Amino acid sequence: MKFDTPATTNPIDRLKVVGKPTNRIDGPLKTTGTAPYAYERHDVAANQAYGYVVGSAIAKGRIASINLDDAKAAPGVVAIVTAADAGTLGKGNFNTAKLLGGPEIEHYHQAIALVVADSFEQARAAASLVRVEYVRAKGAYDLAAAMDTATKPKASFGVEADTSVGDFASAFASAPVTIDARYATPDHTHAMMEPHASIAAWQDDKLTLWTSNQMIAWSVGDMAKTLGIPKENIRLDSPYIGGGFGGKLFIRADALLAALGAKAAKRPVKVALPRPFVTNNTTHRPATIQRVRIGATADGKITAIGHESWSGDLPGGGPETAVAQTRLLYAGANRMTAMRLAVLDLPEGNAMRAPGEAPGLMALEIAVDEMAEKLGMDPIAFRVLNDTQVDPEKPSRPFSQRRLNECMQTGADKFGWARRNAKPGSARDGRWLVGMGVAAAFRNNLNGPSAARVRLDRSGIVTVETDMTDIGTGTYTIIAQTAAEMMGLPLDRIVVKLGDSAFPVSAGSGGQWGANSSTAGVYAACVKLREMVTEKLGFDAATAIFADGKVSVGRRSAALEKAADDSELVAEDKMEYGDLAEKYQQSTFGAHFAEVGVDAMTGEIRVRRMLAVCAAGRILNPKAARSQVIGAMTMGAGSALMEELAVDKRFGFFVNHDLAGYEVPVHADIPHQDVIFLDETDPTTSPMKAKGVGELGICGVAAAIANAVYNATGVRVRNYPITLDKLLDKLPDIA
Ligand code: MOS
Repeated sequence: MKFDTPATTNPIDRLKVVGKPTNRIDGPLKTTGTAPYAYERHDVAANQAYGYVVGSAIAKGRIASINLDDAKAAPGVVAIVTAADAGTLGKGNFNTAKLLGGPEIEHYHQAIALVVADSFEQARAAASLVRVEYVRAKGAYDLAAAMDTATKPKASFGVEADTSVGDFASAFASAPVTIDARYATPDHTHAMMEPHASIAAWQDDKLTLWTSNQMIAWSVGDMAKTLGIPKENIRLDSPYIGGGFGGKLFIRADALLAALGAKAAKRPVKVALPRPFVTNNTTHRPATIQRVRIGATADGKITAIGHESWSGDLPGGGPETAVAQTRLLYAGANRMTAMRLAVLDLPEGNAMRAPGEAPGLMALEIAVDEMAEKLGMDPIAFRVLNDTQVDPEKPSRPFSQRRLNECMQTGADKFGWARRNAKPGSARDGRWLVGMGVAAAFRNNLNGPSAARVRLDRSGIVTVETDMTDIGTGTYTIIAQTAAEMMGLPLDRIVVKLGDSAFPVSAGSGGQWGANSSTAGVYAACVKLREMVTEKLGFDAATAIFADGKVSVGRRSAALEKAADDSELVAEDKMEYGDLAEKYQQSTFGAHFAEVGVDAMTGEIRVRRMLAVCAAGRILNPKAARSQVIGAMTMGAGSALMEELAVDKRFGFFVNHDLAGYEVPVHADIPHQDVIFLDETDPTTSPMKAKGVGELGICGVAAAIANAVYNATGVRVRNYPITLDKLLDKLPDIA
């Protein structure tokens, strides 16, 4: 089915099942510990051996020699794989560094060997006996030091490095009110609960991987490219994923090494990356240094807006697209954005939790707060004044929907913004300095082609099959809701099967495109199934109503399962898109509010309240979406106050590579959160009229907290995370 004109009324609009705050259908499996995660799939293949990864102890250079004698002689060892004996390996489109390194080493903890043994303990013990001599080379590990060497990167995923409209330089120079400030965001790690894990088994030349992966089709393609075998010979199965956050968009060393280990051991092999490897062996969100310049008239109209961002990556990698939102968020006739990329020899940078906008808004939305203060304006009024209903870089393109101002105003009412004192450091609650902050939330909506297969059996059960993944987002549930709505069935008549490359190719989970795209694919398949049903029952397809388990036209009616009496009906289709996303800028909007208390004596920062107001098209399941946004707000609080990979700039690795040293918020850090969804539908996105919302929830949160800390204390911190040491000597005198 092709979606090329805005949606009109369709069966989803009945909202009997879609749009309801339904519990997750996979919830019981997860809460009882019976959902099979990759490493625990003991029953999928007999005689599983255990692989343990050996990671490079240097960040850059080469292996001079590798001695496996002791490891091979260790108890239980079945096989050892290194680049020297793994045959010729290619590299996937989505990998920057090789997943099995050697003799050249590209980053610290790059995998250089897999030791396979009968037990995990034997594999781990033997791995410690692998003796490696390295020749260390000089690497670059410090973004600030490498900034001057940064160059203009090529377009990444269609995002150009530079844009320019009007004459930014002279408009900024002549603006009566300006700010020019620099901000820094650190490297972040995904820190998902479930580390990367895979079980591999070969049957002749056919490989099956039970793994944990967000993008099944990408990963089948990359595995085929890496191993040099046809895609058709690879099956990936990833029905449950214990968090990905962008770290599982691609195949990683666990999957490749399990496959190579299973080949060498001639039996199934399972590999999980130990926790430190999640940090240094896989991808991370790269640090940025950002410069934001804004010029405005004395009454607050932006006349010039410029945003530059520097980040680093391994050779061949890409930039953190931190300027992306600045191209679209505020009006202003003269504009420039630019990204520069330095070569750094740290582990590979890549997508994490709203890549681009999340770190970009951490800078831009402090700058907007600073500008409002300089203008003597309320930060909400300043944003509202500079709203735009068209793409400011291409004014002929309207936004499909843009209710940023309404998000701001709704949130202001709900949060009690009027009680905020604009003068920093003026609100006190005992020992706490109290402040409120706000920031805009913005994230683009993306739609991707997505296919599904639906089966109707004679008992009236509809089974949906698609390679779409559920990374904890609620995909199982919203897909079931979609099929139930389309077929006129209650939710308990729907079975959803996900994550298997044997199923039709979906959009996958990434970039908050999953919910709208994958349900649109299910919609398309259900339209086909409805046609098969009406034909079978001899009903007019155009006027048939599917409701309450029945199909009816006028006074004629039949049970749905009647259509499958003699044989199961199977329909498959794919939703594809025309140019509506070019004609209309499809984005999601929101407003984040935060209230913080800062201990006047110690500088300790506590978040006291948070509110998000989101405008993101139809909300398919308000309960699941709310959970997404609350999780995202929690991540935003983490990036504001805690999350930071410490870089060892001498040896080139992330030091705090575990969940003790890399801090993320816990319950006690997050006292109260509220989420409001504006009631809207966007008919330009798909027949579902939905958009992404998960990543919107993180975008802007950190700046709202930073602005609240400023409002509480009068101390402006421009490099994240905002830890108490950055406040302490600047806090108001309390003596
Ligand atoms: Mo997302 S960071 O594109 O999984």
